[in-house]
Amino acid sequence: MTPSRTLVITGAAGRLGTYLRSSLDDIAARARLIDIVAPLEAAPGEPVEIHQGSVTDPDLLDVVCRGTDAVVHLGGFAGDAPWPDLSEVNVGGTREVLEAARRHGLRRVVVASSNHAVGFHVRACQPLADDVAPLPDSLYGVSKAASEALCQFYSAKFSMDIVCLRIGSCFDAPQNHRMLSTWLSPADFVRLTSASLTTPHPGFRLVWGVSANTRRWWSTAGGEAIGFRPEDNAERFAELYPGSPPEPEYVGGVTI
Ligand SMILES: NC(=O)c1ccc[n+]([C@@H]2O[C@H](COP(=O)([O-])OP(=O)(O)OC[C@H]3O[C@@H](n4cnc5c(N)ncnc54)[C@H](O)[C@@H]3O)[C@@H](O)[C@H]2O)c1
Repeated sequence: MTPSRTLVITGAAGRLGTYLRSSLDDIAARARLIDIVAPLEAAPGEPVEIHQGSVTDPDLLDVVCRGTDAVVHLGGFAGDAPWPDLSEVNVGGTREVLEAARRHGLRRVVVASSNHAVGFHVRACQPLADDVAPLPDSLYGVSKAASEALCQFYSAKFSMDIVCLRIGSCFDAPQNHRMLSTWLSPADFVRLTSASLTTPHPGFRLVWGVSANTRRWWSTAGGEAIGFRPEDNAERFAELYPGSPPEPEYVGGVTI
């Protein structure tokens, strides 16, 4: 049954936004899609509204959030960028989205964080808990850790339900050996988003975004606690990446 909620999706023209849009029936009755790059026009009968603009624009966020139930915030730089850009868009934009969600009384906020917010934890300490302390491995990771802190603040101060997803590697298929451990399949991303939108009263929650990979390094506890049941396993792609290259020392895959 299609959920009745009206959803805002930021960064809707990007990879993850496109995955959600193509499975919209699983998570919402209708959606408002916002991106700095114009999302594709609505197909006939597709229950979406298109909004082009920035997550740093509070007036646009007012228009987009009014009368909706929840927001999935994906918009921003999905990798390293000059700090002024990361600071303005990833950190400042997340604050604007949270502030708009608060103003309009949205019942749920789901935010895309990243494994790079905790990327300098050593991989050997596993399974790494969903809520392990921030330890960014890049300025991009710092922007995600700061976004998590903003979510924690808004949840504590304004009693908002906010789920932050520490996403591993969400692509159609793993793209290298490391992703046999860190892959989040598109279908599992939709399942994780659905669980994050529906779990009762999460308060502030940090959850790993990773499929049921045989080689995963990360805990399953946070996902299980919100009802996320991943169904995919990167192992079916293992023959694409044969051999046993040295495993990365840090979970973010960065070397020093
Ligand atoms: N794909 C992954 O493996 C992965 C892993 C960890 C975290 N994430 C996070 O998930 C989110 C989505 O990632 P993705 O892979 O779809 O990246 P993507 O680059 O494909 O999509 C990001 C979208 O955000 C939009 N955007 C950029 N600046 C914006 C602004 N100021 N206002 C509105 N929209 C803006 C871009 O135009 C783009 O369409 C990002 O926050 C990323 O950091 C993704």
